[in-house]
Amino acid sequence: LKRLTIPAIQQRKKGGTTAEPLVMLTAYTARQAQLLDPHCDMLLVGDSLGQVIYGLPSTVPVSLDMMCAHGAAVVRGSYHSAVIVDMPFGSYEASPQQAFESAARILKETGCAAVKLEGGEAMAETISFLSRRGIPVMAHVGLTPQAVNALGGYGARGRSQEEHDKIIADGRAIADAGAFSVVVEGVVEPIAVALTEALPIPVIGIGASARCDGQVLVAEDMLGLFERVPRFVKRYANMAELISDAAARYAVEVKDRVFPGEEQLYPPKK
Ligand code: KIV
Ligand code: NA
Repeated sequence: LKRLTIPAIQQRKKGGTTAEPLVMLTAYTARQAQLLDPHCDMLLVGDSLGQVIYGLPSTVPVSLDMMCAHGAAVVRGSYHSAVIVDMPFGSYEASPQQAFESAARILKETGCAAVKLEGGEAMAETISFLSRRGIPVMAHVGLTPQAVNALGGYGARGRSQEEHDKIIADGRAIADAGAFSVVVEGVVEPIAVALTEALPIPVIGIGASARCDGQVLVAEDMLGLFERVPRFVKRYANMAELISDAAARYAVEVKDRVFPGEEQLYPPKK
């Protein structure tokens, strides 16, 4: 099995539609990547690891060091999916040159195939700068969590006509700039559908619509491991319960001197 390439992913959208939707999940560790990889087309090393792994209040404090360390782990743990790494807040917004330096470091240190950054029209020049220099870029529009301080929260976007038009314009700008795909997050369904129909590149939804060209979720959210989840998350497992139960049974067995049992002990010399 060869790893999926970015051009192969982009070509899944032929003549304006994607016959088989693209499957994407986040992964932050090698073992998690190994388990998710056979079921996915793309693994996203999202800056959501700030909240999910590091207990930070938002993605704003996430560093390039964190993204590089987790990105490398996910590439090591996978061999089928294309790995895409988020550019953290502050590593790309100042200029196309700053973005190139950060993205090049991510590619060199992790071995990932592409980077993702947040923003529409404002990032078009940067997306064009990177794509023309050999760095595939996935964009992210709609609810852009790194802008939480400017947006004032994580509410759904696109309920007004103004917001609707802005998101569509953002999508067109980043597609024209050469982004190979785009995530649309936290929008009312008509926008997600309009964006998917308007853009020639795969539109990956999260809190958007089943009619997008693909879907992404934070793995910990869909696994039932992370406690605070938005409306758009569907839980496919209850890992929190499994872990709590296992820890509770271990604690009881330690206190009762039941663990370690005979099977876990090294037999004495014969
Ligand atoms: O950081 C992240 O996990 C993301 C996805 C939710 C799209 O950007
Ligand atoms: Na992100």
